Amino acid sequence: MSGKEEKNNTQANEKAGGDFPLPAYLLPWFDRNKRDLPWRKSKDAYAVWVSEIMLQQTRVEAAKEHYIRFMRALPTVFDLASCDDEKLMKLWEGLGYYSRARNMKKCAVQVVEAYGGVFPRDKALLRKLPGIGEYTAGAVSSIAYDEKNPAVDGNVLRVCARAEGDFTPIDDAGRRKALTEKLAAVYPERAGDYTQSLMELGALVCLPDNPKCGECPLRGHCVAEREGWQARLPVMPLKAEKKRERLAVFIVRTPVGAVLRKRSQKGVLAGMWEFPNRPFDGFGAGEEERERKFLSDILEVWGMTEKNGQEKEQVFMLRGKKEHTHVFTHLVWEMTGYVIDLPSVPAGMQVFSAERIQKELSVPSAFRWCLDCI
Ligand code: ADE
Ligand code: SF4
Repeated sequence: MSGKEEKNNTQANEKAGGDFPLPAYLLPWFDRNKRDLPWRKSKDAYAVWVSEIMLQQTRVEAAKEHYIRFMRALPTVFDLASCDDEKLMKLWEGLGYYSRARNMKKCAVQVVEAYGGVFPRDKALLRKLPGIGEYTAGAVSSIAYDEKNPAVDGNVLRVCARAEGDFTPIDDAGRRKALTEKLAAVYPERAGDYTQSLMELGALVCLPDNPKCGECPLRGHCVAEREGWQARLPVMPLKAEKKRERLAVFIVRTPVGAVLRKRSQKGVLAGMWEFPNRPFDGFGAGEEERERKFLSDILEVWGMTEKNGQEKEQVFMLRGKKEHTHVFTHLVWEMTGYVIDLPSVPAGMQVFSAERIQKELSVPSAFRWCLDCI
């Protein structure tokens, strides 16, 4: 760092009342303590980009295996650009937020067509690609190309809020932008390592609960530590109440496999495979008859059973019931699974054996519990 930069930093820090997480504190710590993660073996922009998209909504531990599998199957941007959608969804299975994977393919196609398969290093150009926002553009340009661009994620917001003693709620629109500018001013040549050192400190030391200040390289330079504000910072956004929906899920088994269908291209889990389901209010004790009629009517509407006069109740067998709750970011599904046997495959339905589902289909986590019943 030049003398001039150092002076500017000192001034900024005095104003904020604490030492900003300076590279001089973080890089030596990062060199000694960084985790051995699969995406840290390569500075190839495609590899960095794949990891950063995965890590946006997925924990590091869960992302590791997926990342390795993904890179083995699709080692270059050309492979991804020409990958068929079903294979891509299978590779993404379990990671959630499947629109990320679809955007990745769109992005790969553009990188191939517009840039000959080489991700641009300029942040402004990266930002124009599908699925790449401010964070990803900063992460890819700094980690792959050592461009001095910050990538402010939740970890970085937490570390900086504590280090600076900043009580702005972390979802504040201006906070991220202001922090990005402030960090950009202190970025060192080892930009990629600095980006990752901030994230790493948040992941290993400056934990959301009970941060390990005793082993922190910012110790003695951190306002939260000095003032004992660790538990008060960062100021979290007020959480909106999650919307709850009750769903009846039909786990319909036939002699050759279970019925699955594709969701519509709009809304939650767009275009993914699902067990047939529909909203309902649930049934209480003593409502077995109404419940059975409900099942019977729905199966008939879906064309899974035939209208058969008084006899129609006989064409399906209710084998069991299973409750399951799935929590999305803004939504909770409270599901009742009805395990139903049909004597034959209904016309026009797609059925799959458990083995084929396992090998070929990507069933989102919200419905994976149904696989235990088939
Ligand atoms: N979270 C987001 N990006 C990461 C990275 N490169 N290493 C570890 N954790 C991360
Ligand atoms: Fe976080 Fe404590 Fe380190 Fe401050 S000293 S950055 S609160 S771990």
